[in-house]
Amino acid sequence: MSSEIEIRTMLDAAQKFGTPLFLYSSDTIKTKARTLKNAFNYHPFLPLYACKANFNPHIIRILSNEGFGVDATSPGESQVALYAGVSSQNIFLTGSNLSYDDLNWALKANVTINLDSLSQIETLGANFKDSITPSTRLWLRYNPDFGAGGFDKITTAGPESKFGIRDEEFGEALNIAKKYNLPIKGLHTHIGSMLFDDSPIIAAFEKLLNWAERINTVEEVDAGGGIGVSYDEKHEEFPLNRFAKWLSTMLDSFATKTKRRLKLIVECGRFLVADAGVFLCKVTAVKKTKRRTLVGTDTGFSHFIRPALYNARHRAQNISAICSGRTEEILCSIVGNICESTDVLASDVILRKPEIGDIIAFHTAGAYCFSMASTYNGRPLPPEVILENNSFHLIRQRGDFNSLIAGVPPLEKIFS
Ligand SMILES: Cc1ncc(COP(=O)(O)O)c(C=O)c1O
Repeated sequence: MSSEIEIRTMLDAAQKFGTPLFLYSSDTIKTKARTLKNAFNYHPFLPLYACKANFNPHIIRILSNEGFGVDATSPGESQVALYAGVSSQNIFLTGSNLSYDDLNWALKANVTINLDSLSQIETLGANFKDSITPSTRLWLRYNPDFGAGGFDKITTAGPESKFGIRDEEFGEALNIAKKYNLPIKGLHTHIGSMLFDDSPIIAAFEKLLNWAERINTVEEVDAGGGIGVSYDEKHEEFPLNRFAKWLSTMLDSFATKTKRRLKLIVECGRFLVADAGVFLCKVTAVKKTKRRTLVGTDTGFSHFIRPALYNARHRAQNISAICSGRTEEILCSIVGNICESTDVLASDVILRKPEIGDIIAFHTAGAYCFSMASTYNGRPLPPEVILENNSFHLIRQRGDFNSLIAGVPPLEKIFS
C-alpha cells in the first residue's frame, strides 16, 4: 500500500525536482522481483515484466538485471525494451489488433508474436509466409470464455471480451495456423488485473494446458499477470506461493503424461512496480463549497488518471503537515488543474489540514500512472526520479514547452 520511501525523503525530492513528480524506489522494485521469482521453483521458468505498467527504460533495466524478460504491448514498448538492453529473445509482443506494420516490425525484430484473433493469424499467414521460418516464435492468446479482475474495465477475457481467441474458436485458429505452416510455440492467457484470488487463473491455465496437449509444437505456456496490490484499503494478499506451486504441479503432471516439459512464463506489471512509486504534487488552492473543502493541486488527471478513469483510490497524505507536526485533520476532496469536472484525484478523504504550498503524496503510484499520463490542457509531463542507494537519479526530465510542440513543423512552412 505504501512505498518504502520515507516521508522526509519524499519532501526532499519535491524540493529538489519540483512538483508534480513521480518518485520510485529501486529497492522496492528489486524486493518485489525477488519475491515473485523465489515463489517459483519450477524449471524452466521465465518471469516477464509487463512494461505497460511503467515503461521507463531504467525500470525495465532494473527488472531485466533481475532476470525478467518483457511483455510488450506494441512495437514502441518492444523498442524501449531493446533500448534498455533486453534481448529480442526475451521480448514477447502481446498486442491488441496488431496491424500489418506491427507484425512486419515484430518479425524483423525477431520478438515473439502473440496472436489474438483468427483474422490476425490469417493476416500473418497470408502476408508474411516468406518471412516465417521454423525458428519464428509465434504464440496464440487463449480466452477461456471467462475472465476475472478487480472490476469490469480491467477484466480481459470472457465471452464478449476483445482479447484472445475464445475456446470455441481455438480449433479453427489451429486450422488456419496449419494452413500457413505457422509454428505455434506457445500458448498464453491473461484473464484480468487486480486479482487477489488465484483460482480463476488456475482454472484458465488448466484449460490452456488441455490445448497445449493437443499441439505438439508448443514449448512454452504463459499464465499471464494480474496479481493485485492494495491501494487505499487492505486486501487479503494474493496467495503467490500457493499459486506458484499449483502451476508447477500442473506442469509436472503434464510432463509425466506427455513427456514434454513446458517452459512456464508469467507476466506481472502492477505487482512489481505499483508499491515502488509515489506521486507528489503541491497544494495551490483551497476552496469551500456548501458541502466540502476542495484542495486544488498543481496536477490533474492528465498526469494521474486512474481515479478519473477507474474510480481508483490511491491513499493520499499531506506529507508537509506530517513533517511539520500539524495534526488537525479535515475531510476534503483533492482536485486537479484540468478543465473537466471528472478531474478529482481523491474524493472525500481525511487529510491533515492543507495549506498552500503543502506537498501531497499519492501512494502506490508506480504502475499505470506515468505510463498513462498525457499533456492534456498543455500540462507537460512530470519528471520521474528513482531513489537508488540513498541517492536521487532523474530518469526522465520534466516536459517543457518544446515537448508540447515536438514533431510539429515550423508554422511558416504551411501557414506563412
Ligand atoms: C496481456 C497482459 N499481460 C499482463 C498484464 C499485466 O497485468 P498486471 O499489471 O495486473 O500484472 C496486462 C495488463 O493489462 C495485460 O493486458
